[in-house]
Amino acid sequence: MAAATIVSPELATAVRGPPLTGVFGKKIRLVDGNELVADEEYLRESILRPQAKVVEGYKPLMPTFEGQIDEDGLAALVAYLKASLATEPKAAANK
Ligand code: HEM
Repeated sequence: MAAATIVSPELATAVRGPPLTGVFGKKIRLVDGNELVADEEYLRESILRPQAKVVEGYKPLMPTFEGQIDEDGLAALVAYLKASLATEPKAAANK
């Protein structure tokens, strides 16, 4: 439920998280000035320990999902984030 909410670009703005459509493979700039490409490892870490790498322009207010999601759930969420690249080409192209 929370995932569905935050993955929608319009609603993501309302809860102050970055739009996640097409996030996989995107270049991400962090608050510490570092840049990285959002790979599977980064997405996993961002779900389990969101404070570890905070996206520039956002506050570290995402709750941790560590201990609340099992490996299957995490794999499903990451697969969903990766798939959103292909299913919403318009939103992805606007980045
Ligand atoms: C299943 C639910 C969620 C998933 C899969 C998820 C996933 C992610 C991912 C992958 C990022 C990094 C995005 C990027 O690099 O562009 C992120 C960042 C963020 N999320 Fe979430 N999120 C979830 C729930 C939430 C909730 C409930 C909130 C707020 C109440 C939230 C707030 C944020 C914020 C503020 C950021 C940017 C700051 C940071 O990097 O920590 N997220 N989220």
